[in-house]
Amino acid sequence: MSGTPKWREDFPIRWEADNYVTRREFTKFLVLVSGATFVGNGYFVLQGRREVEAERIRIEVARVEEVPVGGVKLFRYPSANDPAILIRLAENEWVAYMQRCTHLSCPVHYSAKSGRIECPCHNGAFEARTGRVLEGPPPRPLPRIVLYIAEGRIYAQGVQGS
Ligand code: FES
Repeated sequence: MSGTPKWREDFPIRWEADNYVTRREFTKFLVLVSGATFVGNGYFVLQGRREVEAERIRIEVARVEEVPVGGVKLFRYPSANDPAILIRLAENEWVAYMQRCTHLSCPVHYSAKSGRIECPCHNGAFEARTGRVLEGPPPRPLPRIVLYIAEGRIYAQGVQGS
C-alpha cells in the first residue's frame, strides 16, 4: 500500500497546473467584462440623453402681464429641484437664469436698482442682461434659460451654459 490515497489515484490532479487559467475561461472572463462595460456605458449614454431631453422640456413660466418691468418671478426648471429666476428687464426684454450662484450655489437675487444679479453669500455679482460675472468669486456666468414668448405667455425651453 502506497502513501497515496485511493481518491487521488482515481482523480489524478496535476497540482502544479491548478492555477493555470484555460483559454476558454479567460475568453469567458473577457466576454463578461466587455459585456458589463457595454451595459454600463449604455446606461450612462441613456442617462445623459434623458437629461438633455429634460432640458428641452418647454414649460410655461409666467404670463406677460404678471411681471412688471423691473420685476421678477421665481420658478423651477428643468426639474422641481432647480430654482430659476425670470427677470423683466424692459417692456419687451426678458431673461431667465438658474438661480444658483456658480460659486457655492447660494440663491441669487435681481436688484432692479443696480441692474445686477447679486449673490449675498460672498458679494458675487452678475450682469442681468448676459449673466456674466461682474465681481466676486463666481467662476462662471449664470446658466441661462432659453425663453420662448408667444401669445402673452413666457415659456422656458432649455438651459445654456450649465
Ligand atoms: S456663493 Fe455666490 S458668491 Fe459665493
